[in-house]
Order: sequence, then C-alpha cells, then structure tokens
Amino acid sequence: MPDTDPDFSLTDNTLTHPVLTEVLAQLAAPRVHPTAIIEANVSLGRGTSVWDNVHIRHDTTVGDECIVGEKTYIAYGVRIGHRVKINSMVYICTAVTIEDGVMISAGTIFTNDRFPRATTPDLKRLRSSDPDEHTLPTRVREGATIGAGCTIGNDLTIGRFAMIGMGALVTKSIPDFALAIGHPAVPVGAVCRCGQLLFRYTAGRPPARKRVECGACRRQYVFNAGQVEELDGATTPPPRAGARSVT
Ligand SMILES: CC(C)(COP(=O)(O)OP(=O)(O)OC[C@H]1O[C@@H](n2cnc3c(N)ncnc32)[C@H](O)[C@@H]1OP(=O)(O)O)[C@@H](O)C(=O)NCCC(=O)NCCS
Ligand SMILES: [Zn+2]
Repeated sequence: MPDTDPDFSLTDNTLTHPVLTEVLAQLAAPRVHPTAIIEANVSLGRGTSVWDNVHIRHDTTVGDECIVGEKTYIAYGVRIGHRVKINSMVYICTAVTIEDGVMISAGTIFTNDRFPRATTPDLKRLRSSDPDEHTLPTRVREGATIGAGCTIGNDLTIGRFAMIGMGALVTKSIPDFALAIGHPAVPVGAVCRCGQLLFRYTAGRPPARKRVECGACRRQYVFNAGQVEELDGATTPPPRAGARSVT
C-alpha cells in the first residue's frame, strides 16, 4: 500500500483532490439568500453574493465576485461586470450596463425613459414595459463610484473611475476620473483610481493641462482638455461596442 493518498494528483503545478475540488467549487459558487428572487436565464458569476430580498429579472448577467445588497432590484437584460459592489435598495433598470469594479451606493436609482407614460394617449391601454424606441441606455464605466442616494438619467455614460457625490442628479455624461456633484451633477474636480481627490477645478473649469501625482498611492496623471493620461502605463480603452462616447 502506498502511504500517499491515491486521490491526490499533481498536474501542471495544480494539486487536485476530490474533496479539495468540492470545497473550492463551493467557495466559488454564488451565494444567494433564500429570500432573493432570481428569474430564468440569470447568470451569477463565481463568488458572487446576493443578499436578502433582492430581485434579479430574467436574462441578466452578474459577473464574478460581485455583491448585490439587500432589497436591490435589477431589471431584465442588464449586464453587470466583475467585482461590482451594489449596496442596498438600488434600482437598476433595463438598458443599463455596469462595467468591472463599479460601486453603486445605497438608494441609487437608474432611469431609462426620458418622457415616460403609463398608458397610450387615450388612457385605454397600459403601455408595455418592454424596451422600445423610448428606452435609452446608460453605461457606468469601469472603476466608477456612484454615491448614496443618486438619481441617474439616461442616454449617458459615467466615465472610468469617475466619482459621483452622494445625492447627485446625473443628467449628462461624466468624464473619466471626474468628481461630480449636485443637481444637476457637474464635474468639480478629479479623483485617482484609489478614490483620493487629486485636485478641484478652479472657477468650475477643468485645467487645460495639468500633471498630478496622487498623495495617497503616488499614481501619476496628465489631465489635458478633458482627456486623462495615466503615466504608470494604464491605458484608457475605448468604450465597448455599442457604448456612447463620454463627452
Ligand atoms: C463628493 C465628496 C467625495 C466630496 O468629499 P470632500 O472632498 O471631502 O468634500 P468636503 O466635505 O470637503 O466638501 C467640500 C464642499 O463640497 C460640498 N459637498 C460635499 N459633498 C457634496 C455632495 N455630495 N453634493 C453637494 N455638495 C457636496 C460641501 O458642502 C462643501 O461645500 P462648501 O465648499 O460650500 O463648504 C463626498 O462628500 C461624497 O459625496 N462622497 C460619497 C459618499 C457616499 O455616498 N458614500 C457611500 C458609501 S458609504
Ligand atoms: Zn491614488
């Protein structure tokens, strides 16, 4: 009898064992609270947690290692990337796309119809809630944060690593790395990937050209007429196909 466990195998530098494989699979499996409602054709990624009373409608995709906080509603056909953090009581409607690493704080509401009506003009028929020519898209690009209690308009993009202050009303696209606040939200400064404020605009205007180093993480940037260059080599990929460009 060999004194080693015959179930262990070492292939391609990977140690495998049936029990270990099972434990790893359980750790990777999405965790869904029993009170959550997950409709048909919803894809939940590895390690994603869905908390109590969440409702995720059909044909929605949530990536790996996400958190969907309690009492959040995600409509049908929504695309959510990896490592996205969604706090409690967030309303995400159809035609919203959320890229990797986004944070959406509690009580935030997305919208997708600019001039909504419940019924046909004669009040005789309820209008369908399915997407139609009135349904307008919203994209939240990678790394962005939306503060608590925001309302997000439609036909717009929140840029990469942008930060929307608590309670904001977003009616227009927000540039990459911009800090935006207010009603309506306007950019008032710039933030680092790490979340640190880099600088505030003077007289409400972005700088023509400014080189800046983050006081917290030492990342360096050049801000140039609304464009952001990350000097440590990170690149700004263009929006994915179908996305509206940031203005
Ligand atoms: C926008 C934000 C990042 C600014 O932080 P800050 O740079 O430390 O701002 P300060 O507190 O120094 O305030 C600077 C000015 O902005 C105002 N201000 C701050 N946050 C604001 C907001 N969300 N909306 C409108 N004005 C705001 C302050 O009243 C102050 O105004 P004043 O110059 O007239 O006195 C922060 O206030 C915020 O909203 N963070 C998000 C918090 C959140 O939602 N977290 C959710 C997870 S817990
Ligand atoms: Zn930083």
